[in-house]
Amino acid sequence: MSLSKEFYIEYEGLLLPTETHSLASVKFAQEFHFKDDDVIAVTYPKSGTTWMQEILPLVLNGGDLTPVQSTVNWDRVPWLEETRLAEVVDKMKSPRAMVSHFPYNLMPSSFHSSKAKVIYVMRNPKDILVSSFYFHQMAAFLENPGTFDEFIDKFLEGRVLFGKWTDHVKSWKLAKIADRILFLTYEEMVQDLPAAIRRMSDFLCRNHSEDAIQKIAEHCTFKSMKANTMSNFSLVPKQYMDSDKSPFLRKGVAGDWKNHFNSEQDARFTSVIQKELEAAGLSFPYN
Ligand code: A3P
Repeated sequence: MSLSKEFYIEYEGLLLPTETHSLASVKFAQEFHFKDDDVIAVTYPKSGTTWMQEILPLVLNGGDLTPVQSTVNWDRVPWLEETRLAEVVDKMKSPRAMVSHFPYNLMPSSFHSSKAKVIYVMRNPKDILVSSFYFHQMAAFLENPGTFDEFIDKFLEGRVLFGKWTDHVKSWKLAKIADRILFLTYEEMVQDLPAAIRRMSDFLCRNHSEDAIQKIAEHCTFKSMKANTMSNFSLVPKQYMDSDKSPFLRKGVAGDWKNHFNSEQDARFTSVIQKELEAAGLSFPYN
């Protein structure tokens, strides 16, 4: 795999940005001790990770807005594999919420021996690709994505952050941890956020009232998160993330790919993704 060492480290065949990851941070993740009441939201990048960093603490605490109004998202619900975790882990109160972009096979052994729960959020890979394309333009710590057409090829070949989308989805869909995992989609969250939050709440054995669910949903709308400096990445210096080029919370919709893919690109993309999923006995849910 060709990679630019300036931007990425390669770990188990996956590209991880050096800005937020190191060999020490992935070792820390591998040795991390999961507790039974930990909850981790797992996503392929650009599938709604930041959204989960907002929702999860509220579902766990019944809607108390204090953490999402006072703590930046990357400290509030840190990434398992990022350097920041080692700095904040001792301050995290149980039940702890984390996020990760790891495929199932990279989860640490303590995850397997614990009862920690996983919420896996899947998003249409065409929308992920578009979101990622803009993200690469605004994030100075990521390599230039090239043209949109070139970026499609990189994405399909897995020469992007955290490798192939199909490998990621397959690893979690085929994981044998039935009652410890909840599968959600970005699209169902866009369509009916209170219903998605109710599913999370039930999965995490929280018996929240409809009022509490509505309050959480209102706080976690795209508009509300865009206005929350603790969640919209506006505190990151412009030299790292330039929201004039593209805001981090960019559009927040399902189906923006239709404004970017031409019919040849759509057919090429769908055919590759579909074949790879079918080879593993899975269907492509966005066909
Ligand atoms: P777009 O670029 O399509 O707008 P991640 O956090 O995994 O990097 O994903 C980022 C994507 O999630 C961005 O997609 C971002 O706008 C979207 N997102 C974040 N919060 C959201 C919300 N409250 N509602 C809808 N989309 C949201």
